[in-house]
Amino acid sequence: MLNIVIFGPPGAGKGTQSELIIEKYKLVHLSTGDILRNEIANKTPLGIEAKKIIEKGELVSDDIVIGMVKNKIEGNMTGNGFIFDGFPRTKEQAEALDKILEDNNTSISVMISLDVDEDELVKRLLKRAEEQGRTDDNIDVIRNRIKVYNEVTSHVCDYYSKKNKYRSIPGTGTIEEIFDRISAVLDEYAPKRSCCG
Ligand code: AP5
Ligand code: MG
Repeated sequence: MLNIVIFGPPGAGKGTQSELIIEKYKLVHLSTGDILRNEIANKTPLGIEAKKIIEKGELVSDDIVIGMVKNKIEGNMTGNGFIFDGFPRTKEQAEALDKILEDNNTSISVMISLDVDEDELVKRLLKRAEEQGRTDDNIDVIRNRIKVYNEVTSHVCDYYSKKNKYRSIPGTGTIEEIFDRISAVLDEYAPKRSCCG
């Protein structure tokens, strides 16, 4: 299996690049943000709780997101692998992910981190606010999301770095240029297809 973590601050392009990666490498996309927004749209008890937290730009509890991820992984073990987008965001989530994958006889292949400066992140998210109206894309919440990323989530890099699984690439330029950089890394890890002429 090819199991990738796509990592980076809010607005780095994780979701945008995930779409291209799943198409090329035929992976299951697992975005904890998307799952939570779906719960909110369906007004489930979890969604009602999560809405308050997301609209402040804080993190939903580890137990909740780990449970969601475990269900999704165990329901999709027959595919080529997973792309984890927006997860793990804490060391506890990273450890839990390793354990879930190990229990299913697989592991993370690589984490790819998209490097984008704060001015560009804010610019992208304010533009998305106009286009899509995501409720956490307003300037105060954006600043807090970036703060939470810098203070808590960014340290998850160290976890993968210690395992020699961390790769950082520039996340600016055109979407296609960034995808080419990602593909160059992933092609080192993707299972080689046998050639039959
Ligand atoms: P989540 O949904 O994960 O949001 P995020 O991390 O804040 O990131 P975004 O989805 O905003 O950005 P992205 O990196 O996907 O960028 P995108 O491709 O969209 O999480 C939301 C919330 O849910 C969290 O704050 C938290 O409360 C909760 N949550 C989620 N997971 C959790 C977890 N594991 N633990 C605890 N809580 C959790 O691009 C952004 C914009 O830029 C788009 O408009 C796009 O078109 C544009 N763009 C993309 N690439 C480029 C480019 N190269 N040039 C110009 N524009 C570009
Ligand atoms: Mg996203």
